[in-house]
Amino acid sequence: MRLGIKLAAIAGLAFGAAMPASAETLTVASPDGRITVSISDDGGHASYRITHDGEQAVDTSRLGLLFEDHHGFEDDLTIIASVRASQDETWEQPWGERRYVRDHHNELAVTFGASEGPERSMVVRFRVFDTGVGFRYELPEQEALSGDIRITDELTQFSIGPDADTWWTPSRQFNRYEYIYRKGKAAIVDDAHTPVTFRQPDGLHISIHEAALVDYSAMSLLALRPGSFEAALRAGSDGIKVHTKAPFKSPWRTIQIAPDAAGLINSDIILNLNEPNKLGDVSWVEPGKYIGIWWAMHIRERTWGNDGIHGANNEDVMRYIDFAAEHGFNGVLVEGWNIGWDGDWFNNGELFDFTQAYPDFDLPMLADYAADKGVRIIGHHETSGNVANYEAQMEDAFALYAENGVREVKTGYVADAGDIVRYDENGVKQYEWHDSQFMVGHHLRAVEAAARHQISINAHEPVKDTGLRRTYPNWMTREGARGMEFNAWGSPPNPTDHISILAYTRMLSGPMDYTPGIFDLRPNERPPVREDMQRGDASNRPQTTLAKQLALYVVLYSPLQMAADLPENYEANMGAFQFIKDVEADWEESVAIAGEVGEYVAIARKGRAGGEWFLGAVTDEDERELTLPLDFLEDGKSYTAQVYRDGEGAHWDTNPYALVIEEIEVTGGGTMDAKLASSGGLAVRFVERD
Ligand code: NOJ
Ligand code: CA
Repeated sequence: MRLGIKLAAIAGLAFGAAMPASAETLTVASPDGRITVSISDDGGHASYRITHDGEQAVDTSRLGLLFEDHHGFEDDLTIIASVRASQDETWEQPWGERRYVRDHHNELAVTFGASEGPERSMVVRFRVFDTGVGFRYELPEQEALSGDIRITDELTQFSIGPDADTWWTPSRQFNRYEYIYRKGKAAIVDDAHTPVTFRQPDGLHISIHEAALVDYSAMSLLALRPGSFEAALRAGSDGIKVHTKAPFKSPWRTIQIAPDAAGLINSDIILNLNEPNKLGDVSWVEPGKYIGIWWAMHIRERTWGNDGIHGANNEDVMRYIDFAAEHGFNGVLVEGWNIGWDGDWFNNGELFDFTQAYPDFDLPMLADYAADKGVRIIGHHETSGNVANYEAQMEDAFALYAENGVREVKTGYVADAGDIVRYDENGVKQYEWHDSQFMVGHHLRAVEAAARHQISINAHEPVKDTGLRRTYPNWMTREGARGMEFNAWGSPPNPTDHISILAYTRMLSGPMDYTPGIFDLRPNERPPVREDMQRGDASNRPQTTLAKQLALYVVLYSPLQMAADLPENYEANMGAFQFIKDVEADWEESVAIAGEVGEYVAIARKGRAGGEWFLGAVTDEDERELTLPLDFLEDGKSYTAQVYRDGEGAHWDTNPYALVIEEIEVTGGGTMDAKLASSGGLAVRFVERD
């Protein structure tokens, strides 16, 4: 560790006295030397700039914080101290995309002092990895920042440039994170959720996000000028962005940098910037595959409420449990089991009772039935955004589930963005955003309460993932993007390039419960089950081939991975279903091997339990021929590749079911040719030959 303290500061000149005119610039590089960050106090402003191989990646961008009732950090700033450190350490994940994660970075913590107003300082800590940069603000305890601090603005900027190709979803819109991705030059982005992914004109890929979002509000990227963004923090109902006290640390702002698209996926910086596991022994957190009383509701085959075709009925649940047991799934999700769904559940979140089941759903009986077959019920808590109602019942709700052997609960926050209900200290109803400081806190309260009952969480309509699964390994997966449900009623459904954008944007933040595996690709063409249950518009359907549905199990990582379709649709196609039965949900290693943002992606993963490699590749609207390198396999070793590929003439629109299942022999270190149909895919299991 090297300590640098400016002489002016030691001599007491840093505060209140005239500043030396010359600016100071400090630099810190990645371990491989390709990424360099320069941090400066030029012009009295804190700023940083990033280069990759000597070329500009992020142009000079300001740093700073403003407060409601304290002097902030914007002007008249001088670097008064700096501390360097390095780390090269490997840690183990209880579950994940890979077992061992290497945290190799160089660090530079720079202290800025303010020369006007009361004596005060802020630290900006930079960590530079081979795959990108993280930095955060640290405000030490100090007289000038005593008492409550109310952050009104974070001045962090990201100057990308107007000409970068950009993939993003809009922020501050009613549907939270669930939008079709937009694509265009950075110049036209106005306010974007992170991760936002950019490709510079020279091909450099950059993705901006955050890590360890705790006790702070989420950041979106708000355009200051075309291609130049400021961190926009989501304000609470009182207009304040963050309530805090010194000392405090902001979340890390992350800038992933890679020469190619696949490099973005092969980065662990977000996990590395999170704190280690705080829960201790988490052997009760168990990845796996599940089915559920779920798609039936989305395609209007069943209902959540109690009206004659109630999905959560004993008979149906037992049928699903039987199917799960027969085919090796360890969970059955049951939605619509508890009182509160009748009527307008979207708007009546206060009616949900999280311990009262409908009369046709016998939780203890079903839990025993499942346990006898080596299966368990996966619980469901839909809040409709009424967090006040949920928090009042949360402890009892988890206790009830724990008594009945439930180990995973899917939570839901269906409400328009900005319509989360809470009551303030005066009992006055307030509405909050899904990504506000209040909700950031709520999710951790829920995850901690669940952990007390050895329950893991899969949150829908969540706050975005920032890698907190490292610290709280029972926060296993979440939604937070357009999932499969949009193919039942999305109008329009997810477009053909959705997955090949998700892989390089949303998926960089962490696992997603996308709920893949729809085999009946025209679900709304089934005759209605009842006259008042007309199906959705027939144009709502997965815009993929069947092979692409299988590939999703490898491409879209989730430690709780659903086989989302109705059991009868799997029973009708056991050949294709075999891949879903074989594929794992927890990985020893993962590697993105090829792709271009929005066009295609190929990922290989090695299962933790069986040690076998799997490969998934998907394409957008364009059919394509790929030669995939098999470097992930043991060099020179021979394998039987069980291949599930698009058949002759396959096309997502006109011929989605054309699927070839075949076995071929391949060699580690060799290549494999693949032909993907329009919105098609490829799924492969590699079995070692002796
Ligand atoms: C939206 C979720 O994404 C979906 O999976 C769930 O079935 C419904 N809300 C009802 O909770
Ligand atoms: Ca949703």
